[in-house]
Amino acid sequence: MKRIVVFSGAGMSAESGLKTFRDSGGLWEEYDIHEVATPEAWEINPELVLDFYNQRREQVLQSKPNAAHHAIVALEKKFDVVVVTQNIDNLHELAGSTNVIHLHGEILKARSVKNSDKLYNVNGPLSIHDRADDGSPLRPHVVWFGEDVPMYELGKTIIQSADILIIVGTSLNVFPAAGLVLHAKEESRKILIDPNEISIGSFPNLIKVQEKAGSALPRVVNDLLSNNH
Ligand code: APR
Repeated sequence: MKRIVVFSGAGMSAESGLKTFRDSGGLWEEYDIHEVATPEAWEINPELVLDFYNQRREQVLQSKPNAAHHAIVALEKKFDVVVVTQNIDNLHELAGSTNVIHLHGEILKARSVKNSDKLYNVNGPLSIHDRADDGSPLRPHVVWFGEDVPMYELGKTIIQSADILIIVGTSLNVFPAAGLVLHAKEESRKILIDPNEISIGSFPNLIKVQEKAGSALPRVVNDLLSNNH
């Protein structure tokens, strides 16, 4: 069975009503990264950080997978599919994707600030008074700017194993995650879906589909399922 790896970013969930980060009207126009998404921000004003992620969680809980998420699930009929996502929402899983790696964490989880293995499911707002069972405060289970990306090596191995790589809805601006795609095998087919022009340098066997994920992915998936790849 051929392996398809889907590398997704915020644009994947845009048609589910979740804001992207760097488009006009994106989250980083409204918020200062340094005030809500760094370890220093957590030190200085944890309430503001929690408030930002409480809003993200609330919006995720109100959203549903879109046609693009569903199309990726359909690929599992004929391919070994792994989704490597930068997104912290759970829409790939809700649609039914069975193998999803979250590079930047998951908003529906929290963890102890002292022990990153102590994870808890969270379905409502987190407060600074919430504690892990080791007694230390809980923080959102997300990767902040300036922090390590614990899933990086796994993501790299998976991307290296792809026969077909679909990159969708990411500006490829945030490293190290964005650099992962460059580990794809030279001979693998690459399909990049994004309504904006994304620069990726020299990348062999690349097809660009300059369109929204919700219309492009169902078509790309149909093509992959109906042809012998
Ligand atoms: N379909 C596909 N792509 C879309 C759509 C859509 N309907 N709408 C917008 N896009 C594209 C934009 O053109 C842009 O290229 O999604 C991309 C979103 O880019 P970013 O906002 O930079 O999001 P992403 O690449 O996922 O950001 C990476 O940055 O702030 C951090 O941790 C956060 O994981 C995130 C990381």
